[in-house]
Amino acid sequence: PAPGWSLSADVVVVGSGVAGLTAALRCEAAGLTTVVVTKARLDDGSTRWAQGGIAAALGEGDTPEQHLDDTLVAGAGLCDDEAVRILVTEGPDAVRRLIETGAQFDESSEGGLELTREGGHHRRRIAHAGGDATGAEISRALVEAVRARGLRTVENALVLDLLTDAEGRTAGVTLHVMGEGQHDGVGAVHAPAVVLATGGMGQVFSATTNPSVSTGDGVALALRAGAEVSDLEFVQFHPTVLFLGSDAEGQQPLVSEAVRGEGAHLVDADGVRFMQGQHELAELAPRDIVAKGITRRMQEQDAEHMFLDARHFGADMWEHRFPTILAACRAHGIDPVTEPIPVAPAAHYASGGVRTDSHGRTTVPGLYACGEVACTGVHGANRLASNSLLEGLVYAERIAADIAASHAETGLHARVPRPLPYPETPEHPLLTPEARFTIQRIMTNGAGVLRSAESLTKAADQLQQLHTDARDALAENGKTAEAGVDTWEATNLLCVARVLVTAARLREETRGCHWREDRPERDDTTWRRHIVVRLNPDRT
Ligand code: SIN
Repeated sequence: PAPGWSLSADVVVVGSGVAGLTAALRCEAAGLTTVVVTKARLDDGSTRWAQGGIAAALGEGDTPEQHLDDTLVAGAGLCDDEAVRILVTEGPDAVRRLIETGAQFDESSEGGLELTREGGHHRRRIAHAGGDATGAEISRALVEAVRARGLRTVENALVLDLLTDAEGRTAGVTLHVMGEGQHDGVGAVHAPAVVLATGGMGQVFSATTNPSVSTGDGVALALRAGAEVSDLEFVQFHPTVLFLGSDAEGQQPLVSEAVRGEGAHLVDADGVRFMQGQHELAELAPRDIVAKGITRRMQEQDAEHMFLDARHFGADMWEHRFPTILAACRAHGIDPVTEPIPVAPAAHYASGGVRTDSHGRTTVPGLYACGEVACTGVHGANRLASNSLLEGLVYAERIAADIAASHAETGLHARVPRPLPYPETPEHPLLTPEARFTIQRIMTNGAGVLRSAESLTKAADQLQQLHTDARDALAENGKTAEAGVDTWEATNLLCVARVLVTAARLREETRGCHWREDRPERDDTTWRRHIVVRLNPDRT
């Protein structure tokens, strides 16, 4: 349908996590009229679920150079050195500005920030809030700031597609707004600058730490708009997610790396520590190494999970340092004060995404991306723990600066959008809402923590079949499903799943969080490079 309503602004920010709200606040402070659109409520994205914290060289004796070294090691040869340098050098001041905006981090008895460790960090450099509720505090502070500044926000608005003008430049976005509100139905925000900050795509798998809104909408939009997407094969599986049964689906409770950072041990079914001897940092090795160590031991023991033992923390430490995790475990009948916690890896973070330069610019003029939706190059083949909130913060600020600079130089001019063929074309037919669960099962079986040419080929065939069935239904009936949020989400999930599987099939090696059972070695001769995908609009 043609948009039933429209708004105009200099900038539209899509998404309301740390990246989106930081970009919006900075754009507004630079005098740009800014609209924030978000799929659910302002605080419903992944940011508020972040536990461990935000990494930055803030401690005594720590330096950006050491943070850079740890990030590059975790990234397994595929980080963009310059992007990482920007992250670690601009990071400490960006965290200080976040504190000025109102976020309150935990302080040590001496009065400075209390810093913890996580996997892959050789130093204590993770700032945290509320013990293990860092994301919730950051989200609270940013949402309050956005409200205090009176920024225009549209909630319950699922972004559909990018609007472009006749020259292919960004002209805004179309949206589907659900439920109550002044803008019901399909509408558009016209703006010459669009900032994608839509978060990740964890819902492409059955079990994930991501909330239900993480359906890859920004990556799917960017692909349909002809933008380049990179590194989608690198999906990070968090090693320690509370195990709730092998058939558990949807968002699963995280047990932060910080629990290991404070001294918890991973043990197998016999109570034996198994990460010692596998890496000099044992339980605090980079995340991919710990996830592999757990998965291997699960295979050896034919077990569905391993255990995280932190009984030695005692009740006081659990209650004060990890209240969120304690409550989540107890809600599921496990008391970490008296028993080890059953844990297994689950999908956690997309290291890849929409390809950007060091100012967050994508390959479509006027379209920017930051946060988990983006691939700035800082994560390489495996993100270092707690670098994601920092990346959202630093690159959002850079984007706002870039938009403000273009505005100052040439002015931001409203552009006349070309009409869109959406909602359905033979290339992009809509899926039924139930397809979401089929996609999740296909991806978990074929493209999960362990992959092979065989499993990936099967997944690719099954995903292709879903697409073909939807295209045939469209040809036969003129439509496949009632257009709505569930159908658009399922359609986006299929779009990103197909690209992810294509990239994972192509990368015939094991590197970072991409683990090919049939190609167990890292191949620096052939594969020290990125897989970049751009959809040809004429092909399915
Ligand atoms: C955690 O607290 O373990 C998650 C940190 C992260 O994903 O960076």
